[in-house]
Amino acid sequence: MDSRLQRRVQRYGWDKAAGDYEAGWRAQLEPAQSLMLQTAALQPGERVLDVACGTGLVSFRVLEAVGGTGTVVGTDISAEMVEHARRLAVERGKQNASFERFGAEAMNLEGEPFDAAVCALGLMYVPDPVNALGEMLRLLEPGGRAAAAVWGARAKCGWAEIFPIVDARVSSEVCPLFFQLGAKDSLARSFAQAGFSDVRFERLEVDLSYASAEEALNAAFRGGPVALAYSRFDEATREAVHAEYLQSIEGFRHGAAYKIPGEFVVAIGVKPDI
Ligand SMILES: C[S@@+](CC[C@H](N)C(=O)[O-])C[C@H]1O[C@@H](n2cnc3c(N)ncnc32)[C@H](O)[C@@H]1O
Repeated sequence: MDSRLQRRVQRYGWDKAAGDYEAGWRAQLEPAQSLMLQTAALQPGERVLDVACGTGLVSFRVLEAVGGTGTVVGTDISAEMVEHARRLAVERGKQNASFERFGAEAMNLEGEPFDAAVCALGLMYVPDPVNALGEMLRLLEPGGRAAAAVWGARAKCGWAEIFPIVDARVSSEVCPLFFQLGAKDSLARSFAQAGFSDVRFERLEVDLSYASAEEALNAAFRGGPVALAYSRFDEATREAVHAEYLQSIEGFRHGAAYKIPGEFVVAIGVKPDI
């Protein structure tokens, strides 16, 4: 897919998903976000960039780590996501958080370089992840570190059939390279290619719990990357994709609830001093 089109699909897709995102994914993504934050080892007073910040789930946790003297700048391609995060910052009285609408590959941010950058579950959607990591590197202090989390191997993500089910009904694929970074050492190699040193990575297996079919369907179709395509489906198409998706996760059903396996990869790298 042409990269401009991919950015537009993501931008307007996540605009649609913004209102349903946290209900569908907050608990499910928490282990990956926690491992990424633990790996980044943020310190009080640090200035942190949160790329593809979404509603700010990670940004607000960054603030807990950096305290009142630190700051977080969140960036995201979706205007709705950025607005959502800004609203939460005002509601929570977090004056040391700011949010800007930028694609990850070109963030025209002013001010001091960052001590650390993080990106949770965002790089799979970016047309050129090495470019995005290069942009994070550019915005860091020498010696600063970047940490990222992505979905892992396709075979270990029990919800993965969502993409072919939706792609069969739209003219261009929603996320063409979604699982590419989760294969083998691909994420770590991308960090190295972007210019990071001391790169390391680890994998994490989890279960994504949903109390009902309705919760699992809402997370998959309304709160995630296929939300734009789904919003254009008529009722009959919606019923058909629901049935196919539920069939694909049937093996993970326990009574009314679902425990769907998932895997994440978390990597970290350091901006070389020279
Ligand atoms: C799964 S959400 C992750 C949000 C947040 N990091 C978290 O952990 O909750 C993916 C986010 O990536 C953003 N995104 C997709 N493509 C992007 C791009 N090219 N540049 C920046 N953000 C992008 C979406 O708008 C969405 O908010």
